[in-house]
Amino acid sequence: MPATTSTAPGKIILFGEHAVVYGRPAIAAPVKEVRARAVVKANPRGPAGEIRIQAPDLGVEAELGQLLAGDPLARAVRGTLAALRLSSPPAMNLRVTSTIPIAAGLGSGAAVSVAVIRALSAFLGRPLRDEQVSSLAYEIEKIHHGSPSGIDNTTITFEKPIFFVKSKPVQIMQVSLPFSIVIADTGIASSTAASVGQVRRAWGAHKDHYEALFDSAGAVAEAARQCIEHGLVESLGPLMDANHGILSKMGVSSPELDHLVKAARAAGAWGAKLSGSGQGGNMIALVSTKTGPQVAEALLEAGAVRAILTQVANPR
Ligand code: MEV
Repeated sequence: MPATTSTAPGKIILFGEHAVVYGRPAIAAPVKEVRARAVVKANPRGPAGEIRIQAPDLGVEAELGQLLAGDPLARAVRGTLAALRLSSPPAMNLRVTSTIPIAAGLGSGAAVSVAVIRALSAFLGRPLRDEQVSSLAYEIEKIHHGSPSGIDNTTITFEKPIFFVKSKPVQIMQVSLPFSIVIADTGIASSTAASVGQVRRAWGAHKDHYEALFDSAGAVAEAARQCIEHGLVESLGPLMDANHGILSKMGVSSPELDHLVKAARAAGAWGAKLSGSGQGGNMIALVSTKTGPQVAEALLEAGAVRAILTQVANPR
């Protein structure tokens, strides 16, 4: 059996994080500059059913049976075998590596799941369809936090900019004019589970207030969709600023995120906001080809541990 390799990108949420968990629309795009990679090889000397897993970035080196049932890698492997109805697969080795920063809001967990599901199903001669890959990865997302919207696994599986509404069919976006984004990392680990949990508790205690914030975020995402589809790139800047304000009111920003958002605007970005679950992790800034390098530089000077310049464009 020939070895198979599969990779999957990171993702950014352009508009609508958190509100998307409550049924409002959101927009996300793949980040192709960082990727998770899974390689599956036959192990002709191993007994049938033995699957050795190596994931140095996650500190994992074990046989499948040694991993806890809830381990995301074990769930990806077992979920794939179950989807293929295979109880005794041939002996094989799975190696997972990733350049996607962990706990930074860039979808590293979903990207690892998607890469593993694809590499394994292809190795076993029955590559799964995108919809199946995404829904298996969604099941694993539930380990990271109980009520994921599904936006991360969908964006990463389809590797296209998407307009996303929870439990609705995926809508691939037409990007009329490509635009550039700087992604900058506060270096502070951000737990999606903690942040989503905090918003859920606050929503439970102040339902009307949070519902109104979710509505505002949804309206911003709808307006942003129009701008993206009509090539009104600069108009996305004030919408990003507005979305950051709404997320701050939800309580998911942090002094470090606010500091980077201000630094990006001061360096010439058209707009900036936190991206993902917040309380740390990454922020994004909308830039032109001219201002991109200076905004990235300013963000590093302001304390970002990493800055990535990416483009949001129609898939080729
Ligand atoms: C995380 O990337 C985005 C959140 O909206 C959670 C979710 O949609 O599942 C915070």
